Amino acid sequence: MGGTVSESRTAIVTGAARGIGAAVAQRLARDGFGVAALDLDESSCSGTVSAITSAGGHAVAIGADVRSADAVGAAVRRAADELGPPTVLVNNAGITRDNLLFKMTEEDWDSVMEVHLRGAFLMSKAVQAYQTEAGWGRIVNLSSVSALGNRGQSNYSTAKAGLQGFTKTLALELGKFGVTANAIAPGFIETDMTVATAERLGVPFDEFAKGAAEQIPVRRVGQPSDIAATVSFLVSEEAGFVSGQVIYVAGGPRG
Ligand code: NAI
Repeated sequence: MGGTVSESRTAIVTGAARGIGAAVAQRLARDGFGVAALDLDESSCSGTVSAITSAGGHAVAIGADVRSADAVGAAVRRAADELGPPTVLVNNAGITRDNLLFKMTEEDWDSVMEVHLRGAFLMSKAVQAYQTEAGWGRIVNLSSVSALGNRGQSNYSTAKAGLQGFTKTLALELGKFGVTANAIAPGFIETDMTVATAERLGVPFDEFAKGAAEQIPVRRVGQPSDIAATVSFLVSEEAGFVSGQVIYVAGGPRG
């Protein structure tokens, strides 16, 4: 554990049971943050929390559905009680409900909006109270290259583009309180989410990932650690002049 200024700080990472969220939680714990690993079920975060504690870090698992204002309020209060005021928030929880527009149901549309947009709104609203009180804070929202448009993802691309607007507005509103807000827009990252996409398309994952890598300038797909490293920078003290940005972490230029 580094003796950095962040050592006493608390970070909440949503969707921390697996994939990118789990990697971000572990990275921030290594950076010295106490980490609240939040996901739908508290028990689903036990792997993330035990990886952190066995490496000498500090973390708690919290079960909450980010779509629920009551659950979010209780979760953020619990993080504050158990770890100290949460001044870092990573809005990472996400789902896909892909389909071409003509086959997309209202439920597919609404559920994607609710998790990504309503979830990030509720979490940010709850956490900003602690950030403005502390006069310091960092919010990182997970957008996606899909924000630029992606076949079969009219719901998801809309939500991910919406998160970019949300991020820029938070940067404008919260900057005077010492709070920065940025978005990371990952390209293809190897997680259960991309495994599910390959399954939906009926392509073996290895083939799917190989095909994707051929289209990526650095000729590989991304790993959760690629995103965790970017989050680590954005929540650091030295990133305090970076705000309202969308950083494409996609192995090549986007946007
Ligand atoms: P994942 O599907 O592996 O993990 C997402 C986590 O979010 C799961 O643990 C899930 O239980 C949790 N979650 C879902 N709904 C929730 C809710 N209502 N409340 C609390 N937790 C909830 O996904 P992955 O790949 O790790 O993605 C993480 C984020 O990065 C998502 O926002 C995703 O849209 C975004 N992203 C992922 C990319 C990829 O290639 N894997 C590319 C671009 C963006």
